[in-house]
Amino acid sequence: MLPISYALLGSPVSGSKSPDIHNTSFAYNHIRATYEALEVEPENLQEILNNLVEKGYKGFNITIPHKESVIKFLSELDPLAQKMGAVNTVVVTESGLKGYNTDGPGLVMALEAAGLQIKGLSVLLVGAGGAAKGIAHSLAIYGASKIHVYNRTTQRARLLLEDLSDYADLERAVFEPQNEPSESVVCHDYDLVINTTSVGMSPEVDAFAIDPKQFTPETAFCDIVYKPHETRFLQEAKNMGAKCIYGIDMLMMQALLSEVLWTGKAIDLPKTLEVVRSHLFKDL
Ligand code: ATR
Repeated sequence: MLPISYALLGSPVSGSKSPDIHNTSFAYNHIRATYEALEVEPENLQEILNNLVEKGYKGFNITIPHKESVIKFLSELDPLAQKMGAVNTVVVTESGLKGYNTDGPGLVMALEAAGLQIKGLSVLLVGAGGAAKGIAHSLAIYGASKIHVYNRTTQRARLLLEDLSDYADLERAVFEPQNEPSESVVCHDYDLVINTTSVGMSPEVDAFAIDPKQFTPETAFCDIVYKPHETRFLQEAKNMGAKCIYGIDMLMMQALLSEVLWTGKAIDLPKTLEVVRSHLFKDL
């Protein structure tokens, strides 16, 4: 039997780590499959999707700039992807193409693999864009008890909180940071602070969107930025002795969750995460 084909569709995809992540995981989990990254311009998306399905491809990852525009070519949408208005995983089914979003769930799984229990978790979300939305819904679905949002543009933070109003037991609020963080005014309210903004990404590596020193070392810190591996935000948190969860873990987990959807196979996620990490990111 020929290996099954999967692909990433996006632009640009040349620097993508997804092929390495998937091919390492396929080998470890004895999945006979191949994965490649394909450069796809917006005007060609529909035609390329059709051609690949005809060739027998069984699933896709979708990345920038197609995460929203791909939806019109799908026959079915998972409820979380519908809430997000964005798709990063497509499964080829008997009846057509079904869209999912594993970005938020990937972060949740990465947090769990790092030993955090989501049920009852108190979280400060930094940022209120598309990434924040996916993460906020996923945390709420998995049972977080409190989500506060801090964003440069406060109005956008309020809109995100409104979007979470269906979760009746969730405590929601806009967070006001301290202007002058000092040891005497540390905030004890959160188990976890997540940076969902692009602040700190190369080349602006000295920036952070919020200062970890405002919080206690018992707080865990997570950054979805993975270039550089250790952002200034996480460096500061690590210097305080706090637990850190790195963006690369979310990236790997969202990829592994796509594989679960494509293959229906029960992959050991924490174990595969470690295998992929040690094969691909051993220097990190
Ligand atoms: P994405 O879909 O990747 O989340 P986005 O929707 O453009 O991208 O959201 C980017 C987030 O990063 C927003 O919360 C944005 O804050 P604003 O709503 O105020 O724009 C935040 N962000 C981007 N650059 C920032 C900066 N230099 N300082 C603080 N926040 C920033």
